[in-house]
Amino acid sequence: MDQILTQIEELVRKYYDDLFKNQPEEVGKIFLSEPSYDSREAIGAIRTILGGWISQGPNVKKFESSFSKYIGGTIGVAVNSGSSANLLAIHALKEVYGLRDGDEVIVPAATFSTVAMPLIQVGLVPVYVDVKRDSLNMAPSQIDGAISDKSRVLMPVHTLGYPAEMPALVEIAKRHKLIVFEDCCEAHGSTINGKKVGSFGEIASFSYFVAHNMTTGEGGMIVTNNEKLEETCRSLREFGRINQKNVSESRYYNDENLKDYDRRYVFDRIGYNLRMTDITAAFGIEQLAKLDEMNNQRRANADFLIKILSSEAKEFLELPREQEGYVHTYYTFPMVLKEGAPFSRREFSEHLEANNIETRPLFAGCLPDQPAFQGVSGRVVGDLEVSRYLRDNLIFIGVHPGLKNKHLEYVAGTILNFIKERAK
Ligand SMILES: Cc1ncc(COP(=O)(O)O)c(C=O)c1O
Repeated sequence: MDQILTQIEELVRKYYDDLFKNQPEEVGKIFLSEPSYDSREAIGAIRTILGGWISQGPNVKKFESSFSKYIGGTIGVAVNSGSSANLLAIHALKEVYGLRDGDEVIVPAATFSTVAMPLIQVGLVPVYVDVKRDSLNMAPSQIDGAISDKSRVLMPVHTLGYPAEMPALVEIAKRHKLIVFEDCCEAHGSTINGKKVGSFGEIASFSYFVAHNMTTGEGGMIVTNNEKLEETCRSLREFGRINQKNVSESRYYNDENLKDYDRRYVFDRIGYNLRMTDITAAFGIEQLAKLDEMNNQRRANADFLIKILSSEAKEFLELPREQEGYVHTYYTFPMVLKEGAPFSRREFSEHLEANNIETRPLFAGCLPDQPAFQGVSGRVVGDLEVSRYLRDNLIFIGVHPGLKNKHLEYVAGTILNFIKERAK
């Protein structure tokens, strides 16, 4: 059996070696993202399948521990998506901190749908504040004006890999006694003065969707140092099961209805099933080992584009930049059309797409403007001028680690040609 396993692994390695040796010379399509994995992830997954334990098990435990340590937390709770991580985290915060239906959570207006949707699903109210145009992140200056007697949670999002202003946000949260919940679904490994995002607040969520800086296809993680939140998240993740920590020592449960009942089938809250499989976790363990290297490549790719574009494109496009001490991990490469640009976002996007370069807007744009959020609970602070400007004028393209200089030169050339043509 061991010999067969060795042969399988050798063949998988050979398959990927050949695949990478035979990459096409031509530039081809520039996708927003391409999962970056090789024989290590494939062998991890195959070993798990052949090993026979494919549901949540030892790999999930190992991945939870290594990922939370990487972020700078002590506890990881793995789930099946970033959306599930947000749902679980907010449900657990509500239970552990005794939040009531109708209590408010402050979120940036310009972000992804399942930042706000889980809040509504558990009976809380999203309060939308504006973002800053240079960072695309929640504007600390907006928070004081968003506070009401129902404000309980501050939920910054680290947009497209750029850290939100956590030192200022944590200080504001302390002043208003808000719990900080960081959405890091787009920012694995981003740092502020060497401290990773996801380690500033009470709890943090991550996504391993296929487009993200590290992936397991689908998947997510909660990171926290709070054992009460951990216990609640683990229970909610698994059908609302009673705490299973000491089940081997005390297998039986007793109360007025259940006598000597197997603890594995005692449920003490209304839960979900949001678990990660051990195959997924095996993949994630290998991806984590490469995350810093992949992030460095994204940063190098973004710098390459910025260098070429900044002189000739800066009249019409705002490009990403880093504030001192802030490390961007460039989930994607955003460009914002300046006022007076001689082309629309649609024209720019259609030009790039016609030249095989994928583009997207800033996800949901401005959340309260989306059809799903009409007529549901939510409060808007101010005019959301910047979020709406970004909704209409931001476009992003890929800088994933699979892109080489020849691809980036092609992308930059395509952008510059378009601008030159339009600026005539
Ligand atoms: C900020 C943010 N939060 C949450 C999610 C949800 O993650 P998932 O796609 O893994 O459900 C996303 C999606 O990518 C996201 O961008």
